[in-house]
Amino acid sequence: MKVAIPAEITPGETRVAAVPETVAKLRGAGFEVVVQKGAGESAHFSDDDYVKAGAVLVGSASDVYAGADVVFKVQPPTTEEVALIDQKAVLVGYVYAYKNQALMEALAKRGVTTIALELLPRISRAQSMDTLSSQASLAGYKAVVLAASKLDRIIPMQMTAAGTLPPAKVFILGAGVAGLQAIATAKRLGAVVEAFDVRPAVKEEVQSLGAKFLDIPIESAEGQGGYAKEQGEEYLKRQRELLGDRVEAADIVITTAAIPGRKAPLLVTKEMVQRMRNGAVIVDLAADTGGNCEVTVAGTETDFAGVTVVGIRDMPTTVPRHASLTYSKNLLNLVSTYVKDGVFALDFEDEIIKGTCVVRDSKVVYQPPQARPAPSTEVASSTNLGEKEN
Ligand SMILES: NC(=O)c1ccc[n+]([C@@H]2O[C@H](COP(=O)([O-])OP(=O)(O)OC[C@H]3O[C@@H](n4cnc5c(N)ncnc54)[C@H](O)[C@@H]3O)[C@@H](O)[C@H]2O)c1
Repeated sequence: MKVAIPAEITPGETRVAAVPETVAKLRGAGFEVVVQKGAGESAHFSDDDYVKAGAVLVGSASDVYAGADVVFKVQPPTTEEVALIDQKAVLVGYVYAYKNQALMEALAKRGVTTIALELLPRISRAQSMDTLSSQASLAGYKAVVLAASKLDRIIPMQMTAAGTLPPAKVFILGAGVAGLQAIATAKRLGAVVEAFDVRPAVKEEVQSLGAKFLDIPIESAEGQGGYAKEQGEEYLKRQRELLGDRVEAADIVITTAAIPGRKAPLLVTKEMVQRMRNGAVIVDLAADTGGNCEVTVAGTETDFAGVTVVGIRDMPTTVPRHASLTYSKNLLNLVSTYVKDGVFALDFEDEIIKGTCVVRDSKVVYQPPQARPAPSTEVASSTNLGEKEN
């Protein structure tokens, strides 16, 4: 069984779908691993390290895909890449199925069984395979560190002979995986942290990290599988009214609110940004799906009324080493689950494969989220942040 690790060609993508450590484990599980030269370069994994781990290095994209039974990728393949994937191969990576119908049809035409990682069910058994969580956790950390580096003041309280500096105020909107990691990071830096999420279930998690959870008097809801449900415009309007003062008071605002497959809800309006002080910083982790902040410009950093607004599209690509390491471990865990007696075979009756398989037997079998059955197992708690503060 041959696994192919191509170099990612999407502009800005710095990650790679296997690192030397996971290559060695794949070899141990009985796979032959073929890596395209330079595939790990942007994440600082050298060709030599891949060879030492047991990979075969090849120079071109066509050589890496040729004869591969399994293809590991980060970004969805381009039309040119699809044409290089062996018919009957299994592709594992992000597909962004909700917006990539033409890609799925091309993969179906080619006969490539496709596993879309963004659709992984959020059940306990799948936690070790969950790339959205592993990448969101890094994004939450980096958002705070980035904001701190752009802020015009320090974060912790400091008592010096020259006077006392109060701690910075950080407000986190959305307390899912990224938001909870952002809270933990901001607390570690010494900030006073407040957070809000539409899912009241996260209140205790927020508090256990030492942050204040804002209870706002509006009814909210939780959707399927632990995800947030899309809230109506009335709710969002009321939310903005109630949260405006907290945004205004903050030195840093980190927004992480996303609805899978939908445009991100608007939480911070232009008017709210105008009320923030000169020198404050907003990091909008939902920039890629429309942004939670009205003035975010996706893919760039802007100054709006003296407030720095960071709209980096794919934050995990700014920490490519750890992002690749965790992403590739997720893939290794997924694929290893379906190796029995040295043979790799997907179990299409398994909830994990049922949830993620979007192309099978030359047909697109993707079901948009609202048409999907609820997961049978209880949704596990979101994080393993390790430390807790009171
Ligand atoms: N395998 C597992 O069991 C597993 C893995 C990961 C996550 N989870 C669960 O799924 C949850 C969501 O995961 P995620 O972080 O990927 O979510 P996400 O990236 O889809 O959303 C981020 C957060 O934004 C919040 N949000 C949405 N609209 C909002 C609004 N208008 N105002 C404020 N907040 C809003 C959501 O409730 C969520 O907490 C986790 O917290 C966890 O409970 C389970």
